[in-house]
Amino acid sequence: MLSGIVSGVHPSAATAVTPDGRAVFDRSCSVCHSINPPPKSAPPVIPLANRYHEKFATKAEGVAHMAAFLKKPDKNKAVDQQAVTRFGLMPLIKLTDAELKAVTGWFWDQYNPAMGRGRGMGGGQRRLMNQ
Ligand code: HEC
Repeated sequence: MLSGIVSGVHPSAATAVTPDGRAVFDRSCSVCHSINPPPKSAPPVIPLANRYHEKFATKAEGVAHMAAFLKKPDKNKAVDQQAVTRFGLMPLIKLTDAELKAVTGWFWDQYNPAMGRGRGMGGGQRRLMNQ
């Protein structure tokens, strides 16, 4: 199992001028990731975001894990092992720290408890308290 805590990445440490997370996604991620199912060549965003909300209690932890994964994709760190088996490990996508911060924050916020993977309201309440 994952140890929920990943050290070394502090999203709040990135400075000023934050690019728009959705714009970063459209440019750098949407070739492979659709937002909703069906998938393109990678798991869609909303079920993945729901997965992250199940695994991590706070946005800070979830975003830190995601940023660490994007900087160095590692199959042992993937929250969705089945996705790695099904689609192969995600390649490294070069992003600036500001882009990384914007896109991971946006990604986390795509959580939709009404769709797949979510488990009731627990994650939603945690999210409200920790935003
Ligand atoms: C070339 C295709 C490709 C592109 C481009 C791509 N991804 Fe992925 N991504 C994948 C695949 C395949 C997986 C599933 C296997 C895995 O987890 O490595 C994945 C998995 C993920 C995961 C789940 C990681 C985990 O913890 O399990 C996240 C989050 C993610 N991508 C975010 C992004 C973001 C953000 C971008 C844009 C900056 C992006 N991806 C661009 C192919 C891609």
